[in-house]
Amino acid sequence: MRVLVTGGAGYIGSHTLVELLGQAHEVQVIDNFDNSSPEVLSRVRKLTNGDMSFAEGDVRDDGFLRSVFEDFQPDQVVHFAGLKAVGESMEKPLEYYDVNVRGTMAILRAMDSVGCRKIVFSSSATVYGEPVYLPYDEDHPVAPESVYGRTKMIAEHIIGDWAQANGGTAVLLRYFNPVGAHSSATIGEHPQGVPNNLMPFVAQVASGKRERLSIFGDDYDTPDGTGRRDYIHVVDLACAHVAAVNYAHGNTGTRHFNVGTGQSYSVREMVAAFEKASGREIPCVVTPRRKGDIAEMKADASRAKHEMGWEAKLGLADMAASTWEWQSNNPDGYEK
Ligand code: NAD
Ligand code: WQD
Repeated sequence: MRVLVTGGAGYIGSHTLVELLGQAHEVQVIDNFDNSSPEVLSRVRKLTNGDMSFAEGDVRDDGFLRSVFEDFQPDQVVHFAGLKAVGESMEKPLEYYDVNVRGTMAILRAMDSVGCRKIVFSSSATVYGEPVYLPYDEDHPVAPESVYGRTKMIAEHIIGDWAQANGGTAVLLRYFNPVGAHSSATIGEHPQGVPNNLMPFVAQVASGKRERLSIFGDDYDTPDGTGRRDYIHVVDLACAHVAAVNYAHGNTGTRHFNVGTGQSYSVREMVAAFEKASGREIPCVVTPRRKGDIAEMKADASRAKHEMGWEAKLGLADMAASTWEWQSNNPDGYEK
């Protein structure tokens, strides 16, 4: 199939390119390198020997999109491009609505201009908010607590309305906590500045870049008191996109899917796994809870298994080992 991937140079997008090219899909990437670098794409090319096209530009630029869509004539779009920092979204709400909501609308308009009717969208488990019950299934009420989460919820609604109006297909993937890196250790996650997320921070402590990990609260109602999350290996997540593209090919209408493992781990369990994988000690200090954090998040991922034939295969040891391999081989990320 001809698949147009927005945000393909990003962390999840780059791993998905490898899997799509591995399945012989024809791929066109769009990215403006706001949070990535061209080096990512040359590494993906080396990894896959894959032939993919690339156009540098912004997903909010209607003229740019129209010309790329007219040239490529995609069968489907996988839409990753967006801003993703929860804290920053509270300080720059208009920027987040602009990129994540207006950018999504521009993509849908570009799809309309060439009669493309199928989209796979990067949503987030953060749309669920405070759990009413766990694990979250796709029918759990949606009540995001951040601007970022609201941009994802609104984009989900817009995409669903668009699919409803034109007989299209919307596959809305709600990712849990992506971690890990490709087994080649040539692509992975490289946050700019101080990492917000646990795994990249732990990796930088192990490599000596940061002194210690702050554990944000150990007084949660969990067995060891620290927060629990459903971490999903990025390669499993990339494979979920291949499954989603296949699902979209054979279905119409809107469908939401949780993309997680169904298993949660605590901060202390993640640290222990990382110490084992790296052979390094991770100094930790307990600090107050981070605002907006909740005790536990965990997916019921059975819908993805039954309807898309996808389930996670890689466990905690793979997540920790691949993160460490990536970090130790690329201490400065994509900067050579
Ligand atoms: P990322 O920042 O690594 O990748 C996003 C890519 O989009 C980057 O290459 C960036 O340069 C590009 N981009 C940003 N704004 C753009 C614009 N206006 N025009 C064109 N390109 C633009 O993030 P990621 O972790 O790979 O996340 C991908 C998607 O998945 C995002 O939509 C994110 O919100 C969503 N998501 C991520 C997580 C996570 O924890 N990583 C969890 C749930 C959902
Ligand atoms: C995980 C656990 C922290 C850092 C975020 C977004 C979510 C999604 C994934 C995009 C929590 C604890 C963390 C640290 C810590 N992204 N922690 N010390 O908050 O579950 O989810 O990323 O859609 O929207 O909110 O992930 O990795 O930040 O935190 O103790 O330095 O690690 O309190 O329990 P989170 P995270």
